[in-house]
Amino acid sequence: MLHYFRLDRPPPLLGLLCLLPTFARAQITVYKQIPLGQTATAIAAGAAQTTLPAYDATVLIPPAIPIPPPATAYTLPVQRDAAAVQGLSIPHVGGGFFGFSVEMSVINQVLGKNSSLLQVPFLNLMANIQERAGSVLVRLGGNTQEYAVMVDTLPDGHTIAKQRATIQQTTETPAVEYTVDLFYMASNISSFVNVNWFIGIPFNDSTNWRLAIAENAQTIIGDNLLGMQAGNEPDYYASHGIRAVTYGPYDYFGEFSNLITTISQNSLIPRKNILIGPSLASGDWMPEQVWDTGFIPAFKDSLYALTILLANPTVIYSLRYICSYPNNNCFAVFGVGAPQDPQENFKDYLTHAAGVNMVRMYLNSTAIAQAAGKPFIMFETNSATCGGFPGLSDSFGAALWALDYGLQMAYSNFSNALLHVGGQNVYYNPFTAPLTNQSTFNQWTIGAVYYSALVMAEAFSTTNTSRTMDLWGNAANLYTPSYAIYENDVLSKVALFNYVDDRTGASDINVAITIPGSTVPASVKVKYLESESVSFKNITWAGQTFGGPYEVDGRLRGDLSIVTVACDQAANTCNVPVAAPGFALVFMQDITGISSVGQASLTFSTTVRTSGGTATVDPVVLATSNGHSGKDRALVGSTSKGSIPDSACRVAASRNGRGLILVAVLWAAAAGAIM
Ligand SMILES: *[C@@H]1O[C@H](CO)[C@@H](O)[C@H](O)[C@H]1NC(C)=O
Ligand SMILES: *[C@@H]1O[C@H](CO)[C@@H](O)[C@H](O)[C@H]1NC(C)=O
Ligand SMILES: *[C@@H]1O[C@H](CO)[C@@H](O)[C@H](O)[C@H]1NC(C)=O
Ligand SMILES: *[C@@H]1O[C@H](CO)[C@@H](O)[C@H](O)[C@H]1NC(C)=O
Ligand SMILES: *[C@@H]1O[C@H](CO)[C@@H](O)[C@H](O)[C@H]1NC(C)=O
Ligand SMILES: *[C@@H]1O[C@H](CO)[C@@H](O)[C@H](O)[C@H]1NC(C)=O
Ligand SMILES: *[C@@H]1O[C@H](CO)[C@@H](O)[C@H](O)[C@H]1NC(C)=O
Ligand SMILES: *[C@@H]1O[C@H](CO)[C@@H](O)[C@H](O)[C@H]1NC(C)=O
Repeated sequence: MLHYFRLDRPPPLLGLLCLLPTFARAQITVYKQIPLGQTATAIAAGAAQTTLPAYDATVLIPPAIPIPPPATAYTLPVQRDAAAVQGLSIPHVGGGFFGFSVEMSVINQVLGKNSSLLQVPFLNLMANIQERAGSVLVRLGGNTQEYAVMVDTLPDGHTIAKQRATIQQTTETPAVEYTVDLFYMASNISSFVNVNWFIGIPFNDSTNWRLAIAENAQTIIGDNLLGMQAGNEPDYYASHGIRAVTYGPYDYFGEFSNLITTISQNSLIPRKNILIGPSLASGDWMPEQVWDTGFIPAFKDSLYALTILLANPTVIYSLRYICSYPNNNCFAVFGVGAPQDPQENFKDYLTHAAGVNMVRMYLNSTAIAQAAGKPFIMFETNSATCGGFPGLSDSFGAALWALDYGLQMAYSNFSNALLHVGGQNVYYNPFTAPLTNQSTFNQWTIGAVYYSALVMAEAFSTTNTSRTMDLWGNAANLYTPSYAIYENDVLSKVALFNYVDDRTGASDINVAITIPGSTVPASVKVKYLESESVSFKNITWAGQTFGGPYEVDGRLRGDLSIVTVACDQAANTCNVPVAAPGFALVFMQDITGISSVGQASLTFSTTVRTSGGTATVDPVVLATSNGHSGKDRALVGSTSKGSIPDSACRVAASRNGRGLILVAVLWAAAAGAIM
């Protein structure tokens, strides 16, 4: 049905002929900022909206009401006790389920310019997750981590920059250069909001390891550093020309082993057991091929977690099978693969099958990780490779999709998933920092999937006991998925979706939650994730919003709206309506008061201080946040110039007896930022 979710291998010959694209990275992003205090040249917001994907205003046509439509009223039996539920997930521990993966090349844009110039909206966005989940996971890395080099200083007080490289350098990834200040920046962020970090150890050269990033991260970030990724998408090393064409899982095993030995001899890296691998992108290797090398028993004691990257769900279909299963926006961005019609693809995201089929191929691996006692993390993901789809990736439909996908991963015993954050050149960002030259009048822009992260954080709360069950209610209808969440072994929340888009109200559903062998509470509280259409970008969570494009400072605004639904205890039912489209989080208990959380109590206020568009943190907050006194220090938020979709692409078409084969060479803007 969803042909692009199929896992079938292409016919062997076609697979061979279907050459993977050779990636090369060239510096496109300009990191120079307009110096603080100088007047930026203003451009019209409208101009940027039509230019840059992050501000793309495309509104798709909502998919038609499915035929047959889902039943609009159904009874959902949900067990009260976890013990009565077969197949419940393992408990979710620490931090909201969704964290964020920030490509090194956009750190300046998103986190801040340096340790004394942090992005205030970023702090607010993290504070809102922290308020719900206790902490937030942020990964600094991506393809650019492989060639990263630490340098003593960078011009203009920058913490990170890309080495200059020309577009002709097709085989060499330009190095990211960073200074020790990168770690002070991370550490300073963690002193305001409880962000826990992942970094990546450069893996381009396994003979001369460059471990400065590990040494400094451990020393400076301390316990807020959770793990160090060793190898990013090693299954692409051969096809990307980073290793010999024969490079396979055993070669990766050998290099991992070598790294462990090197770290064991390095006294500047005290915590030797927080490595992360294998971070496959399911390019040429299945995870099982790595498990079959004995990776887990050999390295268990050095590992923090096992990871895979679905460097966006469709990467598997786009890169591995680029000729046979093209589903990505690579054609629009790079001219590779087949043209994709976001409008046509939209309906494939608006079904429970999307998440279920994405996750299915990893069930063996999550079970293997569980047996090994290791977290299994989706280290990088988003709605579609090559930057997402216009009108789709930033829609309410994408928010519903990501929420269902996240709950499905949790149910499938994934520990966390990190949503990828790119620059202005992608459609799927959870949040986008403004271009410096717009910063006098524009602020940040929120993306649909940030709302999904917020809701997931709230659904799982801070108890470290949340376990998830896919209920397959409404006769397993794919347009009305439902989940139960148990905390401390008792039913805590019920999550209800309605993917149908029908503004007449005729497809709104009514879910009669019932608790077999027990009694429903007298009333339940419900929070809704809402928009009038799956196509719209204006989303509210419990009545609150972060605002429209360029309006976001990371704080929720509007009145918190929590609906109280009176239940019928005699009939043992709570009737919860869910609009078409819509999502409801039903709080079956409210012991912790978590349902009343709106805007985080910890806030950082943004005030335009100069025409350069700087922002300052409220000194009151500085003085009280996380016990850290910042009274003596002005924390100034900076804005920085974004990455520009200045990518070039060459597609060479060659013919052989079997048909047209695309041999693509990509010059990807902002390197992995777009993956
Ligand atoms: C603003 O920045 C963008 C990206 O760097 C650039 O394309 C645009 O020309 C700039 N506008 C002005 C008026 O400088
Ligand atoms: C939950 O787990 C995190 C990470 O292990 C820990 O920091 C936190 O204290 C735990 N919270 C509770 C309530 O046990
Ligand atoms: C690895 O990357 C570093 C920094 O960019 C570079 O100096 C070195 O030559 C690279 N080594 C290999 C083997 O590619
Ligand atoms: C951060 O950048 C500002 C502005 O360029 C500079 O004044 C400051 O010294 C820098 N801070 C650090 C820690 O490098
Ligand atoms: C913040 O960064 C500065 C370096 O610019 C460093 O001296 C200071 O210790 C950092 N503060 C924290 C809490 O990490
Ligand atoms: C799970 O993975 C292991 C290790 O590669 C393999 O031996 C086993 O056959 C796999 N099981 C399934 C059901 O795929
Ligand atoms: C998740 O782990 C639990 C506990 O081992 C197991 O019962 C359940 O079947 C797993 N879920 C999936 C979808 O594999
Ligand atoms: C949401 O956005 C759509 C499309 O731009 C618009 O028609 C609608 O009025 C907006 N709704 C609200 C409540 O702002």
